[in-house]
Amino acid sequence: MGQRGVALLIICLASTIGSANFFNSKSTANPLFPGDGPKIPLGLVEIVWPDDNEYTPDKAELGWLLFFDKRLSSDGSVSCASCHAPDHAFGDGAPVSTGIGRQNGGRSAPTVINRAYGLLQFWDGRASSLEAQAKGPIANPIEMTTEKDAAKAHATCIERLREVKEYRKRFKSVFGTEDFTIDHVAKAIATFERMVISGNSAYDKYKAGDKSAMSENQVRGMKVFFSNNARCDSCHDGAAFTTNQFANIGIGMDKPNPDLGRYNVTKAEADKGAFKTPGLRDIARAAPYMHDGSLKTLEEVVEHYDKGGTKNPWLHQDIRPLKLTKGEKADLVAFLHALNGEGWQQFKAPTYTPK
Ligand code: HEC
Ligand code: HEC
Repeated sequence: MGQRGVALLIICLASTIGSANFFNSKSTANPLFPGDGPKIPLGLVEIVWPDDNEYTPDKAELGWLLFFDKRLSSDGSVSCASCHAPDHAFGDGAPVSTGIGRQNGGRSAPTVINRAYGLLQFWDGRASSLEAQAKGPIANPIEMTTEKDAAKAHATCIERLREVKEYRKRFKSVFGTEDFTIDHVAKAIATFERMVISGNSAYDKYKAGDKSAMSENQVRGMKVFFSNNARCDSCHDGAAFTTNQFANIGIGMDKPNPDLGRYNVTKAEADKGAFKTPGLRDIARAAPYMHDGSLKTLEEVVEHYDKGGTKNPWLHQDIRPLKLTKGEKADLVAFLHALNGEGWQQFKAPTYTPK
């Protein structure tokens, strides 16, 4: 092919992005899902793909379509993206989320960004993988189904999806069968989710040597964050700013019947009121904060830590009064803004619905 041929091909490729034509012309690859996997932005590490669910571009694209498809819910009113929306940094911007029949759940929807680096899923870590997690909401009577029985909820979801010709074709080409199951749906969605990542923040650029990438107050805030006093990094450490550990920092512990979090899963006394440490990338875009969405701003979060959390018998030892100055608190908030990054923004809702 000559140079003109290449140029023409590029134009053709570009004009089919986001359109239904991807599937019809098999040779046309969707640039959102590169053949060799996602490009890892500065500051992040390579994604470890599970042995039984390796990356393929077709699978990731299928997962993207499913993630945004309301037909996964029993009355066609709710998709994963209803509560994990690109416009809200893949959260929902609400203290607790609203599911099917406008019912409210008890917990705030965490972001899907950088979940590829999470060891356990959900605030209490009750799902061991993204594949296991994805099946949860489809069978959850306050999220995506009106069925009471999980197996029934999954079965009816699959029935609806099998009615869609394009899905039958896509599942056949990705998994080798038109008789796909909820496990195939979960695998495709998890593959898409692992691509929703965030790096290349001002902080990453600063660390890589661009000293102008962060403002002076952000640099001061960084020092507070990693200081021996505040010790934010004793829990928020690593590429995604979480050690993936659970801790009780006192959120909601002054309520009459507090959500006991991790304890509900392990039944270990020490886990009472402990929740999974969230990653902090793009945190400035993910208000409100904490498992119950009870803190509205990053300023309120910093105040919570500064006063030593909310006293309760299971409070983590590192949560104690910090006695930060007004300036240090403002700097810390400024630093958290320097963790806003890039990568996930490219994944908008598909511009068509598979038929
Ligand atoms: C009605 C709102 C709602 C819908 C719909 C929904 N989620 Fe969630 N999602 C939540 C809430 C709330 C949580 C936290 C629940 C908990 O931790 O107990 C959550 C947790 C998660 C997590 C774990 C994140 C973490 O940090 O551990 C992932 C991943 C996720 N959802 C993906 C999905 C996928 C995939 C779908 C579609 C199949 C979906 N969600 C549908 C509200 C929703
Ligand atoms: C002992 C471990 C620990 C330490 C130390 C710690 N955090 Fe956290 N952080 C957590 C946990 C656990 C949560 C979630 C708590 C919940 O929802 O109940 C959290 C939540 C947050 C959130 C809200 C995240 C979200 O998605 O809602 C922010 C912001 C935050 N921490 C920043 C900080 C800063 C800044 C410091 C230092 C002053 C700090 N953390 C110190 C464990 C810790």
